[in-house]
Amino acid sequence: MKKVKLLIAALFFTMWACSPAPKEQDQQSMYKEKVDSLLSLMTLDEKLGQLNLPGAGDIVTGQASNSNIAENIRNGEVGGLFNIKTAEKIREVQRVAMEESRLKIPLIFGMDVIHGYETVFPIPLALSCSWDMDLIERSAQIAASEASTDGICWTFSPMVDIARDPRWGRIAEGSGEDPYLGSQIAKAMVKGYQGDDLSKNNTIMACVKHFALYGASEAGRDYNTVDMSRIRMYNEYLPPYKAAVDAGAGSVMTSFNEIDGIPASANKWLLTDLLRDQWGFDGFVVTDYTAINEMIAHGLGDLQMVSALALDAGVDMDMVGEGFLTTLKKSLEDRKITEAQIDEACSRILEAKYKLGLFDDPYRYVDVERAKMEVFSESNRKEAREIAAQTFVLLKNENNILPLRKRETIALIGPLADNKENMPGTWSVAARFDQAISLREGIENVAGKNINVLYAKGSNIYSDPELEKRVSIFGKPTNRDARPEAEMIREAVNVANRSDVVVAALGESSEMSGESSSRSDITIPQTQRELLHALLKTGKPVVLVLFTGRPLALKWEDEHVPAILNVWFAGSEAGYAIADALFGNVNPSGKTSTSFPQTVGQVPIYYNHKNTGRPLPEGVEYQKFRSDYLDVTNDPLYPFGYGLSYTTFEYGDLQLSSNSLKGNQTLTASIQLSNTGNYDGAEVVQLYIRDMVGTVTRPVKELKGFQKIELKAGESKVVSFDITPEDLKFYNYDLDYDWEPGEFEIMIGGNSRNVKTGKVNWEK
Ligand code: BGC
Repeated sequence: MKKVKLLIAALFFTMWACSPAPKEQDQQSMYKEKVDSLLSLMTLDEKLGQLNLPGAGDIVTGQASNSNIAENIRNGEVGGLFNIKTAEKIREVQRVAMEESRLKIPLIFGMDVIHGYETVFPIPLALSCSWDMDLIERSAQIAASEASTDGICWTFSPMVDIARDPRWGRIAEGSGEDPYLGSQIAKAMVKGYQGDDLSKNNTIMACVKHFALYGASEAGRDYNTVDMSRIRMYNEYLPPYKAAVDAGAGSVMTSFNEIDGIPASANKWLLTDLLRDQWGFDGFVVTDYTAINEMIAHGLGDLQMVSALALDAGVDMDMVGEGFLTTLKKSLEDRKITEAQIDEACSRILEAKYKLGLFDDPYRYVDVERAKMEVFSESNRKEAREIAAQTFVLLKNENNILPLRKRETIALIGPLADNKENMPGTWSVAARFDQAISLREGIENVAGKNINVLYAKGSNIYSDPELEKRVSIFGKPTNRDARPEAEMIREAVNVANRSDVVVAALGESSEMSGESSSRSDITIPQTQRELLHALLKTGKPVVLVLFTGRPLALKWEDEHVPAILNVWFAGSEAGYAIADALFGNVNPSGKTSTSFPQTVGQVPIYYNHKNTGRPLPEGVEYQKFRSDYLDVTNDPLYPFGYGLSYTTFEYGDLQLSSNSLKGNQTLTASIQLSNTGNYDGAEVVQLYIRDMVGTVTRPVKELKGFQKIELKAGESKVVSFDITPEDLKFYNYDLDYDWEPGEFEIMIGGNSRNVKTGKVNWEK
């Protein structure tokens, strides 16, 4: 019997491989046909094997066939592997699947290619500050192209969790606080990774994560509880996931958190009613790392129970935990689940492999020749450098300290000044840390021979060595300076005194943000602040080059430091890109994608909040019995959409094509933008709308459009936005997506705080 099945399998694959290229309209039914016939050959164990996604475990190049994982692959117990690196290893384990397993089903290879592969781009939060969709798409395209040469065909990206709480370290991995901007970016990333044909050998499958609402973890503590109303979900948190699904993302990853009291991985409403039935998602759902097993701790039952719940909810693939592999058979015997459910999950995974072209050629993504040409290539690194420079946000630039002149003595000071390993930023799984460009290298290279760079470390990241160990990459020892704090500061001050300008490279190490890196205090660590204090006391002009994976609370720095360039974590070419911006080869044009609080006590703080019944009147700092604080104003330090330039931009008056509209008419809102400074530059012009009266309360403003406009010094341009009722739609109390007639405020400006305003009446 076994032999007969094998013969059929062999025949089936021969036919499969020889079949002609399908027309697009027939593809779906063809996938189904192929998948169904394969399924009919599979044993229950083999089906369960496809649902199993272990980590790369103990695989060593040259010994793959002896590894435990290889044994499991041989036995048909593995559907794919993730975070396994190098073409050789991937080829070896794929060979085991193709030559030594009964049905020869290819493995799918995933990886956290989050912001680049070996060529690392800025962290996603930084990329979002470019407000440049082509650039973001391009970064994903390069990442896909590089990763695919090494055999990776699936990335656990984009991460599109809306985040309003900078205590949460994973804010670094997403696109900030806004659903509109987040949705545009989600689309761009999916397009960048997947291109228009997933089976090409340089495109890879996207995985939208973390579905859903992970960014709303209470108190900013990772993996924590989430609880929110449906109306908030639909209007504020779900749009980016939906945008990614609409853009054709091939897979979705569940989140760790609960939603309405049921963890995402067991939430049938989320994974089936919403994702599949309402949104029409037809890819496959993978859990996050051991998310099924974690439902035991959530209090939903034992492993058999939670695994059955997950399958029933709509999970197709189990990452790492092996709950599916080890318990679903028993659940089937106990009639807790049906074989049809297992078949459905298995079909979705097989279909994904088919779409990726793995059945045609299981090694199509392993391309050693292309790897040599592309991976970490000069041209990719050049693009990474250009892209990085577009993500920096100039928060302050008093007396035009920046750009720096190329003929002076620069005191380069700080724990992040001469440091490579902290440049790529969190989730740089494939990065070449030792080849990342430090700021010191960048400055020396860009400024050339006419400057003199004097360096001093000045401080460690934290004075507490234990804390510093926690925030180093995977606990690796840092280049910690053993000298007493005072001595390091003394040295730095000496260096500063001998210079014309001080560049202080301070802030967070890369592992102070990202997964499991929540902070309750979001200021620059105390020891670095003391250094900054001392540097300011020298009277030399100080430029703070701020490394961070989250919006920090910078009230003190804003009050005391004349220039602040927020550079996030800018990737492998960080040092060059930062130097390009510091010396004015590139004029900064990034705009914040999150509000920067004055103090952590204001968190969560976001621009698109509701008005409340007791709003604080505009311009008033405090008023008794109003919605405010005794000790701080309601304002963020830097609002959403904020960022300066070396030049200045002026906005004219807002022009509206009409003040009274009806039905499906189009309103055109225009404004004259002028570059009134001395440099060419780019400005992100932002459109916000407020719905003045609704059947439910509406935000005080919502981003509805933006354009990045380049203007030469002295140049002006009229910037226009066309607005239709589509832009006025929202989910009402019954979760119907529609617009309501009445008065609307139309706002255009260079950030969410400083806008020009006009009003229209729009009837149905
Ligand atoms: C993270 C995911 C990631 C996965 C695989 C998890 O801990 O939450 O974002 O994709 O690990 O590495």
